[in-house]
Amino acid sequence: MIEFLLNDELVRIEHERADLTVLNYLRDSRAMCGTKEGCASGDCGACTVVVAELNTEQASSRRLNYYSLNSCVTFLSAIHGKQLITVEHIGNTSNMHPVQQAMVDNHGSQCGFCTPGFIMSMFALYHSDKTTNTEKEATLARHHVTTALSGNLCRCTGYQPIINAALEACSNTPNDAFTANEAFTITRLIDINKNTDIGTEQLILPTTRALLKQALNKYPRARLVAGSTDLALEHTQQLNALDTLISVSHIPALSRIEQRPDKLVFGAASPLNKIHDVLTQYFPMLDEIVERFASLPIRNQATLGGNIANASPIGDMPPVMLALNANVLVDSGDSVRKIPINEFFVDYRKTKLQKNEWIDAIEVPLPESKNQIRAYKISKRFEDDISAVCAAFNLALDEKNCIKALSTGFGGLAATPIQSSLLQDSLIGKHWASKETLTLGKSILQDAFAPIDDVRASAAYRKTVVVNLWHRFWLETNTSTQQIATRVIEHA
Ligand SMILES: Cc1cc2nc3c(=O)[nH]c(=O)nc-3n(C[C@H](O)[C@H](O)[C@H](O)COP(=O)(O)OP(=O)(O)OC[C@H]3O[C@@H](n4cnc5c(N)ncnc54)[C@H](O)[C@@H]3O)c2cc1C
Ligand code: FES
Ligand code: FES
Repeated sequence: MIEFLLNDELVRIEHERADLTVLNYLRDSRAMCGTKEGCASGDCGACTVVVAELNTEQASSRRLNYYSLNSCVTFLSAIHGKQLITVEHIGNTSNMHPVQQAMVDNHGSQCGFCTPGFIMSMFALYHSDKTTNTEKEATLARHHVTTALSGNLCRCTGYQPIINAALEACSNTPNDAFTANEAFTITRLIDINKNTDIGTEQLILPTTRALLKQALNKYPRARLVAGSTDLALEHTQQLNALDTLISVSHIPALSRIEQRPDKLVFGAASPLNKIHDVLTQYFPMLDEIVERFASLPIRNQATLGGNIANASPIGDMPPVMLALNANVLVDSGDSVRKIPINEFFVDYRKTKLQKNEWIDAIEVPLPESKNQIRAYKISKRFEDDISAVCAAFNLALDEKNCIKALSTGFGGLAATPIQSSLLQDSLIGKHWASKETLTLGKSILQDAFAPIDDVRASAAYRKTVVVNLWHRFWLETNTSTQQIATRVIEHA
C-alpha cells in the first residue's frame, strides 16, 4: 500500500500503475486541476507541488521539512509516508495564504497559467529556514528567492514582481495554518511511517537491503527508481510503459550522508539538495556546479546515485566525481564491491553494474592537502539547462607551487564521462604558474577528445571550449592572474 496525506486527507493506494505520475494522479484521478501541466518534463514548473516530510536528521526538532518538486516527473513512490500539499489547500479567495496575497499585491500574475507553480515554490520557501528579514542579508534573501524560483517559467508577467512578492512574503517567520497544525501532521505522518509493509505489486518499496535483493530476484524485468527525474521522462516523453518499479528511496542506509576523517560517503539515494551542503562545506568551489544542476525542485528529487547510474555523457556529477577520485560502492545484496569511478563507465550509458546489482553509495576521498578544485559548466542557459561541456579539475601543488597531482573529469566530449590521463600524467612536476604549463595543457586538451555535433553544441565548439576552460582554471588559480576577468556571468 502507498499511504500519504493529500493535503489533510489520508490516502491509501493499493492498486495503481507504477508509472502514474503525481501530476496525473492529481488531475485525472482526483480532478484537482489547480496543478498545471506545461512541459511534462520537469522544465517549466507549472506542475510544482510541495511535500512535507518528517525531519529524520533532527527527529527531536519536531519540525517538518517542506520542499518543492515537479509532480510531472515524480511517481507515487516518492510521496509514501509524506504530506503532499497542492495549491488548492494553501488558501482561497476569501482567506489567502501570505504568498498568494503578496503575489496579488505585487501584480505577480497575468494569464495565470504559471501562477500555481510559482505559488507552490514560494510556499516551500516560506516554510524553509533560508528566509531572513534583516537588511544586511537582503542580497542573500534574493539569492534564496531566485534559487527557490529557479524551476518556474513565466512567459507574460516578468520576474521582478514575482521576486518582489516572494521577498515580501518569505522574509518572515512562517505563521500560517500549516505551522499551527504541524504537531498534528507530524503525529499522523509518524503513524503512517510505522507501517513496514509498504508498496504495491507494481510499485515495490523495499525498506532493507535484503528486501531490495529479494525484489530484484522476484521481478527480473523491474526497473530501479530513485528520484525518477530521468526515468519518468521515458514515460512522459517517450511514452514507454514502466510496468514494475522498485524504489531505492525507502532504505535508510541508501540515504546516508557520512563525514569521516578521510572521506565523505553519500548514499546513492541522497538527493542533490542534501548533498549540496556537505559537499560544499569541504569543496566550496563546487557550489556553482551544484546550484546550476537543473532547478531546486529537480535537485530536491534527483539523486547522486541516479546521476551516476544513468551514465549520461552530459551529466554534471560524473565529471565532478571523476575529478574528486570518487569510488562507487556497488551492492548485490550479498557483498559490496568498490569500483573507482574512472573504471565505472564502460560505454555510452553502460556501466560496470551487473544484473541485480545497485549503487549503494559514492565515496569521496578528502584530499590531504588544500587542493584547487573547480568545476565548470557550459550550457545555453545559465539556470536549469543540461551541459554542452562540463570540465572539472582537482589540482594538488607542492610547497614550490609544482604539480603533485592532477585529476580531471569531462562531460559532453565523449560517449561517457571521461578523464584525460595524458593531461594528468604529463603535468606532474611542472610549475603551475608557468605559461609553459598552461600551453602544454592546452595542446594536450586540443586533441584529447573526439566530441560530436548535436543540438547543444558543435564538435568544434566543444573542442575549443574545453581548451578555454583549462585556460580559465589556470587564470583563476594563479595568484598573479586572479584579477583577470574570466566570466560573463558571476555565480551569486
Ligand atoms: C528538468 C530536468 C533538468 C535536469 N538537469 C540536469 C542537469 O543540469 N544536470 C544533470 O546531470 N542532470 C540533469 N537532469 C537529469 C536528472 O535529474 C539526473 O540525472 C538525476 O541525478 C537522476 O537521478 P534520479 O534519482 O532522478 O534517477 P532516476 O530517474 O530515478 O533513475 C535514473 C536511472 O538510474 C537508475 N538508478 C537510480 N538509482 C539507482 C541505484 N541506486 N542503483 C542503480 N541504479 C539506479 C534507474 O534505474 C534509472 O535507470 C535533469 C532532469 C530534468 C527532468
Ligand atoms: S509540467 Fe513543466 S515542470 Fe512539470
Ligand atoms: S502569468 Fe502568464 S505565464 Fe506567467
